[in-house]
Amino acid sequence: MIDLRSDTCSQPTDAMRKAIASAVVGDDVYGDDPTVKELEREVADLLGKEDAVYMVTGTMTNQVGIRAHTEPGDAVLFDQNAHVYLLEGGAPAAFSGVLPRLLPGVRGIFTANDVSAALGVSHRFFPSTIPAPVQLLCLENTHNIGGGKIWPIEQLEAVCAVARARGLALHLDGARLWHASAATGIPEKEYARHFDSVSVCFSKGLGAPVGSALAGSREFISRARRFKQQIGGGFRQAGIIAAGALHALRHHRDRLLEDHEHAKLLANGIAGLPGINLDVSSVETNIVRFGVTSLPASDFVERLYEKGLYVLPSGTDGVRAIPYLNITRKQIGEAIDIISAVAEAHSGSAQDGQASAAMSGSDRAAGY
Ligand SMILES: Cc1ncc(COP(=O)(O)O)c(C=O)c1O
Repeated sequence: MIDLRSDTCSQPTDAMRKAIASAVVGDDVYGDDPTVKELEREVADLLGKEDAVYMVTGTMTNQVGIRAHTEPGDAVLFDQNAHVYLLEGGAPAAFSGVLPRLLPGVRGIFTANDVSAALGVSHRFFPSTIPAPVQLLCLENTHNIGGGKIWPIEQLEAVCAVARARGLALHLDGARLWHASAATGIPEKEYARHFDSVSVCFSKGLGAPVGSALAGSREFISRARRFKQQIGGGFRQAGIIAAGALHALRHHRDRLLEDHEHAKLLANGIAGLPGINLDVSSVETNIVRFGVTSLPASDFVERLYEKGLYVLPSGTDGVRAIPYLNITRKQIGEAIDIISAVAEAHSGSAQDGQASAAMSGSDRAAGY
């Protein structure tokens, strides 16, 4: 079985298991867990922020971040395919009570003009009490539904500058910020300095079993800690899992380029197969998204599953595959063989030129 459904499917290495087994722990709710504190300090330093707080998931760090920046009834600008908006269980509405205002990103990348257009202009005939006040802009780098797309740094700066000038707070969903930095050589803190808060995940490409961190100013993080507690995020001897995250942070950032290479290898191996739509140049980091035109994506994924390859269907005609820590080059070769066999077997039903969400990087929600 080769599992390319998600980089969250990684298994801890032996060294990571040893670090977990020997973790020194305390009650984190009392601020007593030395391993959690060490992790929070290292993350804050790495991101150039005053403080950070460790939580169980990226959903929690993102949503606590949104809650800490807003009050119910505020509006928040999201890319139309943002994970925080589409794939976090409706939390912006349920937990923060905010109104999503959507930006027309292409593979997750929107422009400064998009932000200006969404904010509109004030006029004395249009009282500012009428619309929900936009308090926050969220941005995702790299972008999951956008196929691991990296934000071009100049465009990111321009977008943040416009939002900042209009008084908005800025939150970065950096679940895979590590991958952007590994690919571009731009340090994480260089991306992070444009934002008031940054969420990063240890449980995806870095290969830790659990956890994410939210970083920001001391004042912001102390407010965030209140909301973390409010949703039951006080997790006592959390050093047990923080030790895995710390190990991942210290030892696995440098190996991410291997995953990017495997993603490219996979993309090169399957682009051009009958019924597969994939622009290899769209693969910038560890996520491979491709369109299938011979079968509905869910059927295609089922045929792969029968042959021992697990990938995710995405929308009706897209597929997602993600290499990670435990996936070898040999397994990528085997995955290519399995996809080739299924594509060839159904080549008769391929409708060339049929539009596909995954291949075109279309703006509609790809599903996952
Ligand atoms: C871009 C992005 N943000 C946030 C999350 C949420 O992370 P978690 O699954 O830890 O809640 C994910 C999960 O895959 C993600 O891809």
